Amino acid sequence: MPITEFAHLNGKSFVSSLDRDEQKSLGQFMTPPPIARFMAQRATTGIVADVISILEPASGAGVLAAAVVQELLHRDERPSRIELTLYEIDGRLKPYLRRLADRLRRSAKSLNVKLTCHIVIGDFLLSELSQSARPEFDICIANPPYFKLNKADLRAKAHAYAVYGQPNIYGLFQAACAGLVRPAGRWCFITPRSWLNGSYFAAVRRHLLHYLQIDAVHLFESRQAHFYEDAILQEAVIAWATAQPLHMAEITFSTSQGVLDLPNAELFAIPTASVIGTDEEMAIAIPIAAGANRESDDSGHMHDTLASLGLKVSTGPVVPFRSKEYILESSSRGSVPLLWMQHVKHAGISWPIQKKREHILSTAGSAWMLLRNTNYVVMRRFSPKEDARRVTAAPYLAGSLPGEFIGLENHLNYIHRPTGDLTRAETVGLSAFLNSSYVDAYFRAVAGSTQVNATELRKLRFPSLDSLRAIGDLLSDRPTLTEADRAVEQVLCLKMALSAV
Ligand SMILES: C[S@@+](CC[C@H](N)C(=O)[O-])C[C@H]1O[C@@H](n2cnc3c(N)ncnc32)[C@H](O)[C@@H]1O
Repeated sequence: MPITEFAHLNGKSFVSSLDRDEQKSLGQFMTPPPIARFMAQRATTGIVADVISILEPASGAGVLAAAVVQELLHRDERPSRIELTLYEIDGRLKPYLRRLADRLRRSAKSLNVKLTCHIVIGDFLLSELSQSARPEFDICIANPPYFKLNKADLRAKAHAYAVYGQPNIYGLFQAACAGLVRPAGRWCFITPRSWLNGSYFAAVRRHLLHYLQIDAVHLFESRQAHFYEDAILQEAVIAWATAQPLHMAEITFSTSQGVLDLPNAELFAIPTASVIGTDEEMAIAIPIAAGANRESDDSGHMHDTLASLGLKVSTGPVVPFRSKEYILESSSRGSVPLLWMQHVKHAGISWPIQKKREHILSTAGSAWMLLRNTNYVVMRRFSPKEDARRVTAAPYLAGSLPGEFIGLENHLNYIHRPTGDLTRAETVGLSAFLNSSYVDAYFRAVAGSTQVNATELRKLRFPSLDSLRAIGDLLSDRPTLTEADRAVEQVLCLKMALSAV
């Protein structure tokens, strides 16, 4: 029996002796061998050295360490020595780990490789090693326990640098291990996906990204299929990272439902800069093309950004308190429409709405803050929480309001083409795409707040201009959300859950 299966069977036989509450209290959910191998293959790629040291900090029955050793032993270029360090809090697993160490030693010896195994029964997060930030390991691989910790817990205190709000134990494992990897060494974790964004994990991300560069992320879209035996209801991600300072490279994304479709998971390489937020939160956005349910139609591939489409998002230039002398209560000679958030709805732009101050003088003095009366996608910068969608975008079509110019108030963003004008089909298609339940699901997944700012829009992946035009061609100037979803779905061959609107 291969060693990885041996370790897994040991783990399974141990878990079968536990009741569910006991299993949960220490997060004892074991990694199935196909996932362990998938993690180990990438975690070992490029690690070539005479002596290779490996850490599994929450080892259970050691299936991940076993998978890594198996990978290293099956190579042409084998190390002459492998040094394993296994931490496990539950002393009942010690006999299993000892048995595994024996088998690993024997397999290694048969290939002239010396293997040492240091088993530590204790709390990794309270160990001197975990708090040392000594880069001693070539590979650190883990499926850590997942549960929330009290802020006053000794482990949270020991790793306070990675705590903001209520910590989850897995984030502490991730952060502690980041500092233990040698330069060019690998860090590989399977965890719930929640660490990728949200404020509670911001300190963990900042710490990780200080030490590591993320190379690849695999998302399991199904909440059940990956840990098929234990049926954990968590969407899981595997992340692989290399210990070196962050630089502008690419992150490889892949997704599968579960284990069975892993071998066919499609890969996307996305520039790191468009995945990792530049603000202090450093949120990691799983790109829409990699995170959505797609049918395999090329038109559904979203490789573009606003910049690659030659488009730009800008903020409405009219800041009311600085432009008081130009803003009017009612129309007058020389005034043009001033659009505020209230004028922009999914159904389109409605003006006037008998709102105060919806006119602005068009004079030489105000000219710098006015836009030509041409096509734009106009978006609210904030949406009320109860709104059907995170994004509210509306096509503004040239000449639909009077005057040669229009004013856009500062709580609006608008998308335009700096080198010319958007066409009607592009304007309507782009608005429909932004309003779609597809983009809505994306922003709900990556952005905790109801604010969709220009930085987030710049990161969003878009379909090609041809696809956007095709969407626009299917729609009237004021499509409903349902019509917009249908057109997006039809052109991009997306399967979307149409929310009731
Ligand atoms: C999710 S299981 C994974 C086990 C194994 N690595 C695998 O992939 O199958 C997490 C393991 O970490 C152990 N554990 C929980 N808290 C720990 C801690 N503070 N220090 C070390 N091990 C811990 C649990 O007992 C459990 O065996």
